[in-house]
Amino acid sequence: MSRRAAGALACVPVGRRPARRLGRVGPSHSPHHVSAALRCPRGSRCYLERQHQRLAEGSGYSFAIADAETDEAVGNIGLWTSHISTGRASTGYWIAPQHRRLGYVRAALSALTAWASSLDDVKRLELFVEPWNEGSWRAAEACGYQREGLLRSWQQVGTERKDMYVYSLIPVRD
Ligand SMILES: CC(C)(COP(=O)(O)OP(=O)(O)OC[C@H]1O[C@@H](n2cnc3c(N)ncnc32)[C@H](O)[C@@H]1OP(=O)(O)O)[C@@H](O)C(=O)NCCC(=O)NCCS
Repeated sequence: MSRRAAGALACVPVGRRPARRLGRVGPSHSPHHVSAALRCPRGSRCYLERQHQRLAEGSGYSFAIADAETDEAVGNIGLWTSHISTGRASTGYWIAPQHRRLGYVRAALSALTAWASSLDDVKRLELFVEPWNEGSWRAAEACGYQREGLLRSWQQVGTERKDMYVYSLIPVRD
């Protein structure tokens, strides 16, 4: 992990400075968002509006990951709560290519996990990761998530069904 990312990170609700600049680092850099971005003629503006809607519709909390020293937006992380009535929430994230392998996601996931674990409604945190995505599952393991197994043909990504590792973390409260 870089020295900067280890201690200089902020998670900012999308819509506030510097999160507005998130559109410039671009959802189009993420394989998970590229198809949606391409479908939308307004590109990143449309992406940002969708992040706002998540809170309004109760589907989750979307944050920009920003470098606290430079105020630069480097990526996105969210806590997704569509299944919160069952006590389960999940998380997902991306970092723009030019900011990868500097420890940003590890730091952001650690912060998001600590916050989410403090919420009474959250009994289980989940993560779904494609097996090839070592950067993602290494970050998850570094933040205390445990691999529970491989979900075969779990999700449609583009034109293909994808297997996913499922990871979880059970918040421990006093
Ligand atoms: C996966 C992703 C979020 C990782 O973000 P990152 O900020 O580069 O990750 P970090 O620098 O915090 O690295 C986390 C760990 O993974 C390792 N790592 C990062 N990228 C890696 C790669 N491409 N291959 C192997 N290991 C990698 C790091 O060395 C670190 O390991 P350590 O904790 O043992 O030191 C980023 O590559 C990305 O945005 N990818 C595209 C979108 C995506 O896949 N999102 C996740 C969907 S589940």
